[in-house]
Amino acid sequence: MRCPLVAGNWKMNLDRTRGSQLVAGIRAGLDSLGVCERVEVLVCPPAVYLYPIAEALKGTPIRLGAQDLYHEPNGAFTGEISAAMIAETGARYVIIGHSERRHTIGHLEDDRAINLKVRAARAAKLTPILCVGETLPERSAGLTLDVLTFQITAGLVGVSVVTGADLVVAYEPVWAIGTGQNATPQQAQEAHGHLRSRLHELVGPAADEVRILYGGSVKPDNAEAVMRQPDVDGGLIGGASLKADAFVGIVQAALAKVV
Ligand code: 13P
Repeated sequence: MRCPLVAGNWKMNLDRTRGSQLVAGIRAGLDSLGVCERVEVLVCPPAVYLYPIAEALKGTPIRLGAQDLYHEPNGAFTGEISAAMIAETGARYVIIGHSERRHTIGHLEDDRAINLKVRAARAAKLTPILCVGETLPERSAGLTLDVLTFQITAGLVGVSVVTGADLVVAYEPVWAIGTGQNATPQQAQEAHGHLRSRLHELVGPAADEVRILYGGSVKPDNAEAVMRQPDVDGGLIGGASLKADAFVGIVQAALAKVV
C-alpha cells in the first residue's frame, strides 16, 4: 500500500511570517485530524524560506521540499542553488520539471535539463518530484499518452529507482494548472495508469511503490474523487496549499483513500 502524499507547492507566494503562520495552521489542522502516519504531508516554500520554514516545521510530521535546483554541484552559476544546498536546509524533496519551468519561466527547461536535475537530486539523497503533463493542444491532438511516455522516459535516463523513496511523479496537465479546470477522475486515472505502466518498463517492480500525484486545480471539494482513483497517490497542490483550511481539507480527502 502506497502512503498518500499531499504536497503544497507555494510557488512564488507568501513571506516569512505568513509562511510560518500557514505552517502553524496546517499543523493545528493535522493534529485535529490525527493523520500523521497515514498521509505524508509536504510543503515546498520559495528557496529563501527553506531555513525559516524548516525551523517552523520542527517537532511536526510535515516535511520540507524545494521547488527547483540546478544540476551542477557548485561553481559559477549565478542565482542557482545546488541539490546539496537544498539538502542542508533539511529539505528531503525537490520539485523538478514543473510545467511553469517547462513552459513559462526564463529559458524554458527541456527534458535533458530536467533529467540532469533528477540525477543531481538523487545524488544528494533528495527525492525528486518529477512533473510531467500535456498542454491543451497536445491533448486536443490525441497526444497525451505519447507526451507522458516521452517525458517520463527522458526524465529518468540513467536514474535507478529501487524503492518508493527514490522517486515521486506528479501528473499535472498544463491546461488544469491555476485554471479552475481540473481533469476528471477518469482522465487522471488514464494518465496515472499509463505512467505506472511506463514506470514498470523503466524501473521494474519499484514502480508499484512510486507515488504518482495529481496536480491541477485540486480543491477540497474535488480532491476525494480524484484521489480515490487506484493510481492516484495524492496531490501536488498550488493555490489551495496557501490556505491552511483548504490544504488540510485536501489532506482529509487523501485520508479517505486509506481508511
Ligand atoms: P493549482 O493547484 O493552483 O492549479 O497549481 C497546481 C500546481 O501547479 C502545483 O504544482
